[in-house]
Amino acid sequence: MLTRRTFAAHIGLGAAAVRMLPEMAYAQREAIRARDLPADIVWLNANENPAGPPPASLAAMRETLPTSGRYHFQELGDVYAAVAKSEDLEPRQIIVAAGSSEVLHCAIDTFTSPTRPLITITPTFEGPLEVAHALGRPVVLTPLLPDYSADVHKLVEEAGKAQGGLIYLCNPNNPTSAITTRKDLDWLIGNLPANTFLVVDEAYIHFGETPDLESALPYVRQGKDVIVTRTFSKIYGMAGLRVGFGAARPDLMERMTPLRMGPISIVSARAVVAALADRQNILPQRRASVARTRRELCDWLRERKLGFIEPHANFIMIDVGRKAREFADAMPRLGVAPGRPFPPLDNLLRVTIGTDAEMVKFRDVFWKVYQG
Ligand SMILES: Cc1ncc(COP(=O)(O)O)c(C=O)c1O
Repeated sequence: MLTRRTFAAHIGLGAAAVRMLPEMAYAQREAIRARDLPADIVWLNANENPAGPPPASLAAMRETLPTSGRYHFQELGDVYAAVAKSEDLEPRQIIVAAGSSEVLHCAIDTFTSPTRPLITITPTFEGPLEVAHALGRPVVLTPLLPDYSADVHKLVEEAGKAQGGLIYLCNPNNPTSAITTRKDLDWLIGNLPANTFLVVDEAYIHFGETPDLESALPYVRQGKDVIVTRTFSKIYGMAGLRVGFGAARPDLMERMTPLRMGPISIVSARAVVAALADRQNILPQRRASVARTRRELCDWLRERKLGFIEPHANFIMIDVGRKAREFADAMPRLGVAPGRPFPPLDNLLRVTIGTDAEMVKFRDVFWKVYQG
C-alpha cells in the first residue's frame, strides 16, 4: 500500500518535505493508477465532490488566468475579508492556506511539542498524524466508542495526563462519517485541561443534516482555546485549487501564521471569493443533492440487509462482512475505485457519494464483488 510517507520516499522527498504532501488522496489515486484500469473509472476514493467548482468560480478563474503573470498579493486582504465575513469573524481570526491540510500542519507545529502530544481518535484523517510523526511529536490515539463516536472523556483524560497538547477532532469524522454531538463538543471544550488546545476539522460539516451536529465556530467567537479548520475541497468542489482556512483567536493566529508557506494563487483566491458570494445558494443546494443520493444508497443497502455507519458526510462506511481490502482490490478493475481499508475497521469499506449515475455503477460493481 502506498502511504503518504512511502509516496514521499517514492518521489524522492524526505520527512522534512512532508509539509508539501498533504494529498493523501493523490497518493491513493497514484497507487490505484498503477494497475490496468478502465478509462472511464469512477473515483469514489477521495471524498471529492463530482459537482466541481461552482459556475461563478469557473467564470472568475477564466477571467483571472490572463493576468496571472502578476503576484496580486495586494488582493489577499479581499480573500481574508470574504472568508471572515462568511462566518461572522474578523480577518485577524482567520488564516487562509493551501487547503485545510496546511492549516492543520501549522496548528500541529504550533500547539504540540516533544512533550505535548497530538491526541486524537482512531481511525481518523491521517494527515495530522503523519505531520506529527514527521515533526517528531508524540501521538496519543484513543479508540472510538461502540457507536463509532469519539470518546471525549478519554481525549480529555489523555490531555490531562500529558499536561497539555493538541486534541484533533474531525467532525464529521473521516473515515467513519460519524459525528461528535453538540453536547459532547460542548463538554469537551468546557473541560480542556491546562495547556491544551482543540482543533476541530470541519472539512465535511456542510454535508450534515442532523441538528446534533454543530460547528465549533461559536467557541472561536467566544475566544476559547479552539481552532476550526474548513476547506473548499469538499462541498465547494475545488479540491485541486487547494484552498482551506482556519479560524481561531487572534493571538493563536499570530502564532500559527508565520508557519504558513505563502499566499494562495490569485486564480484560487478569486474562485473562492466568487463561491463565497453565492454560498447562500451553493451550500443548501449541494447539501440537499448529496443527502438525497446518500439516502438512496442507504435504502439500497438496507434492502440488501447490509450494515453501515449512519453517514453525515459525503461518504459512507459499508460493512461488507469480510475484509474490505478484497473490494478495494477487485472493484477498480471493474470500473469503480472505492476507498482503501481503515484499520482497525477492516470489514468496513469507505465509499464517496458520487453523482447518481456514478452510484448506479457503484451498486452494480459492488454487488458483483459482494456476490463473488
Ligand atoms: C478530514 C479531512 N481534513 C482535511 C482534509 C484535507 O483537505 P484539503 O487540504 O484539501 O483542504 C481532508 C482531505 O480529504 C480530510 O478528509
